[in-house]
Amino acid sequence: MIAGDGVGQEVIPEAKRVLNRAGQKYGFTCQFQDFDWGAEYYFANGRMMPQNALDLLRPSDAILLGAVGHPDIPDHVTLNGLLLPIRRTFDQYANVRPAVLYEGVCSPLAGRKAGDIDMVIVRENTEGEYSQVGGFVYHHQPEEVAIQTSVFTRRGVERIIRFAFELAVKRNKKRRVTSITKSNAQGYSMVLWDSVFEDVAGQYPQIETESLLVDAAAMNFIRRPESFDVVVGSNLFGDILSDISAILVGSMGLAPSANLDPLRRFPSMFEPVHGSAPDIAGRGIVNPLATIFSAGMMLDHLELPEAGAAVDQAIVKALASGRARTADLGGTSSTSQAGDAVLEAL
Ligand SMILES: NC(=O)c1ccc[n+]([C@@H]2O[C@H](COP(=O)([O-])OP(=O)(O)OC[C@H]3O[C@@H](n4cnc5c(N)ncnc54)[C@H](O)[C@@H]3O)[C@@H](O)[C@H]2O)c1
Repeated sequence: MIAGDGVGQEVIPEAKRVLNRAGQKYGFTCQFQDFDWGAEYYFANGRMMPQNALDLLRPSDAILLGAVGHPDIPDHVTLNGLLLPIRRTFDQYANVRPAVLYEGVCSPLAGRKAGDIDMVIVRENTEGEYSQVGGFVYHHQPEEVAIQTSVFTRRGVERIIRFAFELAVKRNKKRRVTSITKSNAQGYSMVLWDSVFEDVAGQYPQIETESLLVDAAAMNFIRRPESFDVVVGSNLFGDILSDISAILVGSMGLAPSANLDPLRRFPSMFEPVHGSAPDIAGRGIVNPLATIFSAGMMLDHLELPEAGAAVDQAIVKALASGRARTADLGGTSSTSQAGDAVLEAL
């Protein structure tokens, strides 16, 4: 457990309560190990986590993370000092972000009702535009130059696209995979992406496919969100589009994510999509459901699918009853009341 910063400290305890209850009900015990890494650790030690942090995490079955980020620390320091090293070292190459419109939740889009939106964004999580390859020339001088290079490998592209197809098969819903591209303007990386997509698609004749330029995809997420099933994109495109899909289904406070090593060589990491929300931290009003959803995804990954589904269903029930309606959903429930509603439903 890395509760991290800001609202991370408030949502993780709610997820723990739900995991413990799920354990009682489904006959497993969670052994939590808490790591106090993040902004406070940085202020005391000059780094976001200790030098041997990854060795400390390695023996875990899974990692549940709240959020990291502090107004007094540049965001690239928090991201590169904690989240990105974990994702890369443990080769968590599939970032899975479901977006479902549930009963009791209002989409900002008119005329959409529960069940109309049910998609999952699969984002490449280890390379692409976030590879951190580049540098400054004439740094801090008026003629400063910054170069940032994207890295797309056939191996990296192929494995994430294949993961998306496998997920479409497993979900067995609309059986459709949408590829997000920009090969009209990015004539190398995205041309490779398109060519690999076509190769892999050929191996899944039962799955319908569609390829959209990222700008058209942004429009179509708003215009016809109900048409999407599994959407696969690069690190940057997946990052941006998954914020759109999150708000389409009501709130960032409902958006969970999994950073998966699908080959299970290393621990996978589960976290809400949202950040440390310093504007509301410490007030007991943050919506804990995204983190509890993420904990449910963790149970599923830990091969406790019954318990994972029960956690999901408990959240859905709590939302439908109106008893887990925090401020971001237009209600007045506190963080712990929302947690209580899920516990009771479970
Ligand atoms: N994975 C992560 O840890 C992660 C992700 C995104 C941002 N960040 C960091 O978090 C900090 C704040 O970033 P930001 O403000 O751009 O994004 P944010 O997600 O923290 O907040 C965006 C807005 O959504 C609201 N919000 C977010 N989660 C909510 C929840 N569960 N319930 C109710 N309202 C919620 C916030 O109050 C805020 O108004 C920055 O330091 C940023 O780098 C971290």
